[in-house]
Amino acid sequence: MKILLVFLLCCLSWESVLSGPRCYEAIFNFGDSLSDTGNYLLSGAPKFPGIENLPYGETFFHHPTGRCSNGRLIIDFIAKAFGLPFVPPYLAVAKGPHGHIRKGVNFAVAGATALNSSFFSAQNIALWTNDSLSVQLGWFKNLKSSLCTSKQECDEYFKKSLFLVGEIGGNDYTFLSISGQQSIEQIRPLVPQIVGAVTGAISMLIEEGAVNLVAPGQLPRGCGSLTLTLFQTANESAYDPRTGCLKAYNAFAEYHNNYLKRELQNLREQYPHARIMYADYYSAAISMFHAPKHYGFYGDKLRACCGGGGPYNFNASAFCGQSGTTNCKDPSAFVNWDGLHYTESAYHHISKRLIYGGFTSPPLLS
Ligand SMILES: *[C@@H]1O[C@H](CO)[C@@H](O)[C@H](O)[C@H]1NC(C)=O
Ligand SMILES: *[C@@H]1O[C@H](CO)[C@@H](O)[C@H](O)[C@H]1NC(C)=O
Ligand SMILES: *[C@@H]1O[C@H](CO)[C@@H](O)[C@H](O)[C@H]1NC(C)=O
Ligand SMILES: *[C@@H]1O[C@H](CO)[C@@H](O)[C@H](O)[C@H]1NC(C)=O
Repeated sequence: MKILLVFLLCCLSWESVLSGPRCYEAIFNFGDSLSDTGNYLLSGAPKFPGIENLPYGETFFHHPTGRCSNGRLIIDFIAKAFGLPFVPPYLAVAKGPHGHIRKGVNFAVAGATALNSSFFSAQNIALWTNDSLSVQLGWFKNLKSSLCTSKQECDEYFKKSLFLVGEIGGNDYTFLSISGQQSIEQIRPLVPQIVGAVTGAISMLIEEGAVNLVAPGQLPRGCGSLTLTLFQTANESAYDPRTGCLKAYNAFAEYHNNYLKRELQNLREQYPHARIMYADYYSAAISMFHAPKHYGFYGDKLRACCGGGGPYNFNASAFCGQSGTTNCKDPSAFVNWDGLHYTESAYHHISKRLIYGGFTSPPLLS
């Protein structure tokens, strides 16, 4: 116990009360709205209406920052745990002086897909952004010369950096399934391709010098207010009696996650010097739906805090932040924020489990 405490203290600033040496000097993040700290908003002309308005950001920042929540995201809590500042969005730092990017850069864009946008345009599926994972990796490559110069310098620096690759891929499934053309079962054969985009990104980053990488899995898709609204059914056996979530969509997320875990194992064999961690978002999140009150979620666990009405307070014609939508009084009592994303308190719960609770394997802290 004593050894564990000493280890924790030297590694972390415990909720920023204690500051000590850090495990990581920088964070580089790739992903979608689960980790975007402003790129989508900075990219202009949001097709995801409302995120430029309050109540986005109301709880912590007190103004909209481009984060798809009322407050901080998992990446913000991870940065804090390592004593690092909020990870700045690439589009905010790309044009300015590069002095303040040494502690990391966030390339994630809300709505981003793991597959290239051409995959979707070929099927006439309109995306919210074309800044897919490969575009984000291109941004990283462009910025690299501003971060370090010689190979030796880059290797030293990246060795002390944490690379978060995802969550990404969730939008690929969402856009394919809400386009109405394909059922969840028809989408399943795409899992290897989508996971392949994630593992391809990891390989590329390792070739660039990354050593510490985290690949998060999918959240329980069947518990999201969007899924529950758009795919609601009179068939009672489609719902998990314990959670009220749609079973097929949760099973799909688990299928993706199991596939990802197997592919990560292959990568570990291919790159034995790298530390490739799997972050179990699914398990970290599902407990909030099993025992919401135990974790302080007193509101309706499946209802979005902010939305345009309906049984789950999700309305595809009236997103949170647009006129005519309602916002719950106490977002900390809710898991679902706007139907697609979680509240700050749900993200805080998940990040505590990922950082301290053994839900990242191998653990984030060593
Ligand atoms: C995706 O786009 C990138 C460039 O942005 C390109 O290098 C890559 O080959 C494309 N991948 C596929 C599968 O088309
Ligand atoms: C993505 O690219 C396509 C083709 O270049 C373009 O028509 C579309 O408007 C772009 N979408 C967004 C959201 O920028
Ligand atoms: C109802 O849902 C269950 C579980 O998803 C499924 O096995 C069954 O085929 C569905 N029944 C109908 C009539 O659609
Ligand atoms: C959804 O939003 C539209 C547009 O504001 C509104 O007309 C409709 O009544 C809403 N649906 C529900 C179920 O509240």
